[in-house]
Amino acid sequence: MSVLGAPGVLPAKVLIARSFGRAAPAYDALASLQGVSALALIERLPAGLHAEWVLDLGAGTGRGALALERALPRAQVVALDLAEGMLLEACKKGLKACVVGDAESLPLADGVFDLVFSNMAIQWCVSPVDVFRESFRVLKPGGQLFFTSFGSRTLMELREAWRAVDDDDHVNAFLSADDVHAAIETAGFLDSTVSSKLHQREYADVMTLMRELKGIGAHNQMGGRSYHLTGKDRFARMKAAYPLVGGPLDSRVCATFDIVTGVARRPSCEPR
Ligand SMILES: C[S@@+](CC[C@H](N)C(=O)[O-])C[C@H]1O[C@@H](n2cnc3c(N)ncnc32)[C@H](O)[C@@H]1O
Repeated sequence: MSVLGAPGVLPAKVLIARSFGRAAPAYDALASLQGVSALALIERLPAGLHAEWVLDLGAGTGRGALALERALPRAQVVALDLAEGMLLEACKKGLKACVVGDAESLPLADGVFDLVFSNMAIQWCVSPVDVFRESFRVLKPGGQLFFTSFGSRTLMELREAWRAVDDDDHVNAFLSADDVHAAIETAGFLDSTVSSKLHQREYADVMTLMRELKGIGAHNQMGGRSYHLTGKDRFARMKAAYPLVGGPLDSRVCATFDIVTGVARRPSCEPR
């Protein structure tokens, strides 16, 4: 099953789904930050959480969904993703309930889930408010949302380096924690907390960073487009402008990842 040909699916989403789908076979080996973040988010779940139905939004290759199955052995975990290729990897890992779908328009019934979980996927959606509204809709009253997303300072060094070359948007404009918080409240959630933490990762050189972004399928959105598409000369100028960790003879670079973590609850009693 695929949603890519369905009426109303934006071309940008087709590109996102293709990009992540192609990256799927090598994704786990490259996406270590996402792996660590998924486990950290699971550790934040309340001890003794009783959940029958759990939805992993933007589940990718299913690592988070599998870890959720281990953490909540009585729960039925549903892995949903826009990219069929990602879910094929999830199926290979033994996940039984995999649904191709769009987090902004979920092909799921109202009020089914006790927990909606999402690790590092919401930032690829066009409208985070729609993702939160849809999460709210499919949660049972009293159900909880736990998510992480990239925040506004993600890849700030790369963004700055491109700014030295031109005024185009080479790196996605990710939402700040405050914007994410506002979107959650607009969707109707209660008791929400949103925080953000910076993680710095070191790479052997700019090309290694770019290869990682491409390898996890995020290159079109995160400024890692190949230099053939960007133009060799402009790419070289961006590389020259990227700050080096240890001075001019050292090719190592740092990249900042701003991880926004949010927790929210659908009210148990809602006004009629
Ligand atoms: C960086 S991966 C994260 C995957 C997984 N959650 C993890 O922790 O490794 C982002 C995932 O979000 C999916 N995605 C992007 N936009 C989506 C949308 N609108 N609806 C559902 N999934 C989406 C992508 O296909 C991709 O698998």
